[in-house]
Amino acid sequence: METKRIIQSYGRKRARGLSETQKENLVTLYDIYGITLPESNVNPHDYFNGQFEKITLEIGFGRGEHLIQNAINNPTMGFIGCEPFENGVASALKAIADNNLNNVKIYKGDARLLLDFFPAHSINSVYVLFPDPWIKKKHYKRRLLSTEFLNRLREKMAEHGSIIIATDCENYMQNVLENLKSIQGIKYTDDMTALSEKPSWFLSTRYEQKALSKGKKCYYLKCEV
Ligand SMILES: C[S@@+](CC[C@H](N)C(=O)[O-])C[C@H]1O[C@@H](n2cnc3c(N)ncnc32)[C@H](O)[C@@H]1O
Repeated sequence: METKRIIQSYGRKRARGLSETQKENLVTLYDIYGITLPESNVNPHDYFNGQFEKITLEIGFGRGEHLIQNAINNPTMGFIGCEPFENGVASALKAIADNNLNNVKIYKGDARLLLDFFPAHSINSVYVLFPDPWIKKKHYKRRLLSTEFLNRLREKMAEHGSIIIATDCENYMQNVLENLKSIQGIKYTDDMTALSEKPSWFLSTRYEQKALSKGKKCYYLKCEV
């Protein structure tokens, strides 16, 4: 498949030097739990030999706390996490191994590249939690949740699926709501007050905790397919 040029939506790929163990995990554990870009279309169920009825995709899992907790809580569901940040990938791989999880696969890279290989209606839930906000106007074009990407995500969603988005950036959430207006076949509320109430089912993330500890408001959106 031809790789399209896409605008980078993430900040850094590495925070500081990786330890020797992290470097080793990125090779040995990635061999077990990692995904490499396929050469042709692939059904995400195949990564788990078809043993799970439902597939959840988490885009930009950071250090993986939410992804891992979700996978522990839902052992009969397959989870695919995408993240280009190597330190985060190393942490998530270690957590998968430590918890002996057989229901998580990791793609070390831009989720958009992997998603292109998945057939329509192959994913049941998608989480995009605290995507890089790109707060300067000149950087808005870097925001991951463009109309085009939301459309692609929608195409991949199975019936009764859900797309869950959270952010502490009010302007980002408003931008997402604007972009969603042209997406067919989804239900959600666009009431910002309602969106600022944390749903009881929401598992916390590192960025959410950071934002809340600074007294920032967070917004939680669930789009139902
Ligand atoms: C602000 S962090 C939030 C991390 C985590 N979700 C949390 O809430 O703690 C955003 C993450 O999204 C990742 N990211 C940005 N663009 C991405 C893309 N196209 N595919 C996958 N991950 C991406 C970044 O590398 C970064 O780790």
